[in-house]
Amino acid sequence: MPEVLAPPRPAALRACMSRFTTGVTVVTYEGDDGPRGATMNSFTSVSADPPLILISVARRARCHDQLVGRPFCVNILGAEHEALARQFAGTAGAAEPRWMPGARVPRLDNPLAWIECEPWRSYDGGDHTLVLGQVTDLGHRDGDALTYAWSRFGTAAESSDGIEHLI
Ligand SMILES: Cc1cc2nc3c(=O)[nH]c(=O)nc-3n(C[C@H](O)[C@H](O)[C@H](O)COP(=O)(O)O)c2cc1C
Repeated sequence: MPEVLAPPRPAALRACMSRFTTGVTVVTYEGDDGPRGATMNSFTSVSADPPLILISVARRARCHDQLVGRPFCVNILGAEHEALARQFAGTAGAAEPRWMPGARVPRLDNPLAWIECEPWRSYDGGDHTLVLGQVTDLGHRDGDALTYAWSRFGTAAESSDGIEHLI
């Protein structure tokens, strides 16, 4: 039997997670009163067949009830998009979001990459809801990436010897 330990303090868990470098996304969707988005870094690929990705949406976030169960688009941000990331996180940032005209599901204009999804399954994730999306459309461009580590935004330079040659 595994030893049952006392649950970690939230601050201790945050301190560990802050050492895990991620990219930064804005998840966009059609809200009740127009296109909406929320900054999220709890994003990962899950399955190639069927093509599935995962996001984790805080139950207390305003977006929760509008996003879960609807088509959505994961916009992976470029290095120049820190102000957008701050704005869609509800913190300081005065960037005016530009939306891609004519998109089936609202998405940002010119992200580093975008992955459009239909809702596939949702699961209880404690104070979050885990949303699996089935990929319906996608695209990408060249450029440096926005990152998040140590509770700060940073950048990662585009690499010419990535995996593009595999695709
Ligand atoms: C770098 C970063 C990553 C975030 N990742 C998530 C996430 O994965 N899931 C989530 O629910 N909120 C995340 N947030 C918080 C949301 O962006 C924030 O609660 C936002 O206000 C949600 O949008 P809403 O107010 O329209 O619901 C993150 C914030 C930042 C700055």
